[in-house]
Amino acid sequence: EKAGFDHFMLKEIYEQPKAYRDTMRGRISDDGKSVQLKELSMSEDYIKSLRKVHIVACGTAYHTGLVGKSVIESLVRIPVETDVASEYRYRSPIITPDTLVIVVSQSGETADTLAALREARSKGARVLAITNVVGSSVAREADDVIITWAGPEIAVASTKAYTSQLIAFYLFSLHLAEVLGSQERAAVEELIAGLHALPEQVEQILEQAPVLKQIAEFISHHKSLFFIGRGVDYAVAQEGSLKLKEISYIHSEAYAAGELKHGTLALVEEGVPVIALVTQEALYEKTMSNIKEVKARGAHVLAIANSGSEQEIAKSVDETFAIPRTLPLLTPALAVVPLQLLSYYASLALGHDVDKPRNLAKSVTVE
Ligand code: F6R
Repeated sequence: EKAGFDHFMLKEIYEQPKAYRDTMRGRISDDGKSVQLKELSMSEDYIKSLRKVHIVACGTAYHTGLVGKSVIESLVRIPVETDVASEYRYRSPIITPDTLVIVVSQSGETADTLAALREARSKGARVLAITNVVGSSVAREADDVIITWAGPEIAVASTKAYTSQLIAFYLFSLHLAEVLGSQERAAVEELIAGLHALPEQVEQILEQAPVLKQIAEFISHHKSLFFIGRGVDYAVAQEGSLKLKEISYIHSEAYAAGELKHGTLALVEEGVPVIALVTQEALYEKTMSNIKEVKARGAHVLAIANSGSEQEIAKSVDETFAIPRTLPLLTPALAVVPLQLLSYYASLALGHDVDKPRNLAKSVTVE
């Protein structure tokens, strides 16, 4: 069942290249130049009438939604709000018929997410579901569905479901961009080529798992650590932090790197591990100056950086892990993989039940 892996989580991490390919399959034209989401019933006129997008989900799926917000806003300049479903449904959100509500759920059965979907539909909004389970409640009740073909996810900690949701967001955002003509053809084609390259790039990261195992063993001796990043790196930092908490029970917090000095920096003292994501070239100098702030307080910094920049970064940090080069919007689909492996190996080093962490269930069908 585990196909030779010790745990479902590790198996699912290694299944990601296949999950990326399966989620893309049939959704890109044969000439590789445009996205085709034949399953969508929303018309071009509807897309042209859209004025805002709400993305609603829980946990890891919410973290996908944070990346989704950046991708949609950057490609089509429609304002996007991303919210956790348990907040959204009770805060009387301003939903109008020109709002598209996107719910994201691996299982398609999460109670709060389903309730948010119903709330949105009752207010006259269209709902697009991104889910891994065909025929799930969310898939049945939404107006449109994009299935993430990640295959069954057994481990409680979500890995391949998260990344395949990212792929779904990239595809859908490109579809919007094509309909709205908001991007040059060349930019669309470049992103599609970038998507095509991802599975092999993930394989290259997986080959470096032994390095991450060593770093995870170091982390496992600490009580608390921080993840920092800016832009989509901050979104990935939040996912990395959740993953680590959930299966290793080590306390961690994710911070927008520029926000540290507004309070949290007080907690950074000698030896505290800080995992810094530095994949966004436009924000490189800014994040590096935040790294210097934590280094000056004695933090032990691991940087997740783009291949090519690691030698420069290595001068300012204790360890560097390089991910293959891709486009700035696509880095989350690579940068999260080393964080998944760090959590896995930290949990393993501490002797925890990786696939079934305490207090948690795979599918949360009650509030
Ligand atoms: C974390 C995790 C949870 C789920 C959340 C939503 O690894 O698995 O945070 O992401 O419970 O579940 P779905 O996506 O099924 O709605």
